[in-house]
Amino acid sequence: MKNTVASFRAAKGRQKLSMLTAYDYSMARLVDESGINSILVGDSLGMVMLGYKNTLPVSMEDMIRHCAAVARGTNNALLICDMPYLSSQISVEQTLANAGRLIKEGQAEAVKLEGGADFCPEIRALVRASIPVLGHLGLTPQSLNALGAYRVQGKSMAQAQKLLDDARAVQDAGVFGLVLECVPAALAQRISRELEIPTIGIGAGPGCDGQVLVWQDMLGLGQEPNAKFVRRFAEVGKIMREAFQAYDQAVKEGQYPAEEHCYSMEQEAELLEKLN
Ligand code: KIV
Repeated sequence: MKNTVASFRAAKGRQKLSMLTAYDYSMARLVDESGINSILVGDSLGMVMLGYKNTLPVSMEDMIRHCAAVARGTNNALLICDMPYLSSQISVEQTLANAGRLIKEGQAEAVKLEGGADFCPEIRALVRASIPVLGHLGLTPQSLNALGAYRVQGKSMAQAQKLLDDARAVQDAGVFGLVLECVPAALAQRISRELEIPTIGIGAGPGCDGQVLVWQDMLGLGQEPNAKFVRRFAEVGKIMREAFQAYDQAVKEGQYPAEEHCYSMEQEAELLEKLN
């Protein structure tokens, strides 16, 4: 069944939503075929695909290229693309133009935008242009330099109140869902109960309406050590490393390629004899 913004909203209180990142065609196909509700082309691609230290250098061109590749491998999942740093912070006009490119060129079905009440004018403009928006509060990695470090948000009374107020504000501005990243579980549950839209947690406990993870983290291919909230569902990194070592050894020992991997030709010996 095709997941849409409407089915996403309708799932609230009925069924938990699963979301996973993907950044290329092959992974998108695997995730899509697994029945996961939504694929996020996160700007985390800057770190896990491009090797940057944080998400700040990621460009619109990076997001468009990866999103378009993911779109080619996605049939049923709702495809959401991150707005990279400074694509949504300069002006409402630029935000609209950039989100439009993610939809038209990247073939995203919705965009994700980090930030609270301050970004309601941008969110409203996108919603008015029929671009569905997923909000993102709590630890917002694009604010790394302002926050000082990647750390849990909303632990003090003042921070918790601000988070709840921001959640209400972006909901009123029209987001169809809200990512809560690195927020105490009790606060995320309180926000989730109050909102009418689904919340998607990452490091925000089981009280959210859904969960998102970066695929490299949940398969043991991410940076070590993993954050506390990551569960490794398989040790694929270990399996891949062992396969690469086996390949290296087989090539060096002349065991690969073997006869069954070779093409033959008719009258081989005769033909080779005639070659000069
Ligand atoms: O960029 C990303 O992958 C994200 C998720 C971790 C929520 O924003």
